[in-house]
Amino acid sequence: MTPRFYYSVCQFGAEKTMKEDILYEFPHLRFAFSRPGFITFKEENGSKPAIIETQGIFARLFGVSVGQSKTPAELEQLIDSIPEGAIVHGFERDTFVPGDEPEGYRKNARLENELKGISHTLKLGGVPAVNQTVYDLIWIDEGRVFLGKHVHRPHLDPAPGNQPNITLPAKAPSRAYLKIEEAIHRFQPKIVPGMKVLEVGCSPGGATIAMLARGLSVTGIDPKYMHESLSREREFSFVQKLAKVVTQEDLSKVNPDWLVLDMNLAPLEALDELQHVIQTLRGVYGRNLKLKTGFLTVKLNDWKFAENIPLYLKRIRELGFQDLTAMQLASNRQEFFVYAENFR
Ligand SMILES: C[S@@+](CC[C@H](N)C(=O)[O-])C[C@H]1O[C@@H](n2cnc3c(N)ncnc32)[C@H](O)[C@@H]1O
Repeated sequence: MTPRFYYSVCQFGAEKTMKEDILYEFPHLRFAFSRPGFITFKEENGSKPAIIETQGIFARLFGVSVGQSKTPAELEQLIDSIPEGAIVHGFERDTFVPGDEPEGYRKNARLENELKGISHTLKLGGVPAVNQTVYDLIWIDEGRVFLGKHVHRPHLDPAPGNQPNITLPAKAPSRAYLKIEEAIHRFQPKIVPGMKVLEVGCSPGGATIAMLARGLSVTGIDPKYMHESLSREREFSFVQKLAKVVTQEDLSKVNPDWLVLDMNLAPLEALDELQHVIQTLRGVYGRNLKLKTGFLTVKLNDWKFAENIPLYLKRIRELGFQDLTAMQLASNRQEFFVYAENFR
C-alpha cells in the first residue's frame, strides 16, 4: 500500500489546536511533520479517495502533498511535475502572528527569492473556480519549498493561501479593521446603508471606521476611549461602559441589525456580558428587535480554551443565533471568529 500525505496550513501558533482538530476528524491519519504554520499528516492507505476538506476551525488550507525540494535542482523537478495550464499559488507558511511582522517585512519575499535561484519561469496566480485543483508552492524554510494541491471549495477565498488581500489603511485606529473587513469579504452579508450595528468592545475604533465607511450606523460599547477621529462621525455614538452594566436607556436608540463582539475577555466572561446586552435589547424591543447577524470574535487568551469551543458555540446558539460558521480568519490573532446568522 502506498501511503498518501496531506498538508495543512494555519496561523502561527495555532498548530497544536489545528493538529488535534484534524486528527479528531480523521482518526486514521497520523501526524508526520510540523513547522510553525504548517503540518503534514500520513494516511497509510493512499488508494482510497483523497480527503478534500476539513471542518477544522483552524485549518486555513488542507490538501494532498505532492513533494518538496531542498535544492534548486529539486525545485525545478517539483515545478516540472505541475500539469501544464494548472493554477499555481505561491505563498509562505506563517512565520509571525498576524500583526507581529517586523518593520520592512514583505509577504512572500522568501519564496520569490527561492524562485530567483532557478532557471524555470513559473507563472503564479489565477482565480480558481469551485472544485478546481490549485497547486500550492509553499516556502517552508530557507532552501526548502513544498508543493501540494488542494481543491478550491466555496468556503475558501480564491487568493493564494486562502488569505484575502486586504490592507490596513494608515488612518485605521487598530488592526481590528482587518478582521471586520475580512469577515464582510468572506461572508458577504447584505449591507443596506443606514443599517445599525451595536459593537461591543469597540475601542479604539478600527472596526468602527470600516463599518462607517460602508454606510453603517454604529453604536459602540467600551469602557476605554475611542480614537479622536471618531468624535467627528455623526453616525457613531458611544456608550462608554462595561458591557455588563449597559441599561435599557443606553440602548433605547439602537435597534441593531448586526451585533459585533470583540472584547479582550476570556470566552465565557465575554459571552456572559454579551448575554446581558442581548437581554437588555430584548427588554427594550421585544419582538420588534431587528437583530439578525453577529460578527463575533472569541479570544483564546490561553490556547487551552480551544478545547471548549463546542461549549462557546452552544452558548452563542442559546443567545438566539441559529446558524453559526466558525473559523480562524487570516487576520485573527490568538482568537477565532463566528459568523452568526438568523438570530431569533
Ligand atoms: C481587541 S479590543 C477591541 C478592538 C476594537 N473592536 C477595534 O476595532 O478597535 C478589545 C476591547 O474590549 C474592551 N473590553 C474589555 N472588557 C470589556 C467589557 N467588559 N465591556 C466592554 N468592552 C470591554 C477593551 O476595553 C478593548 O477596547
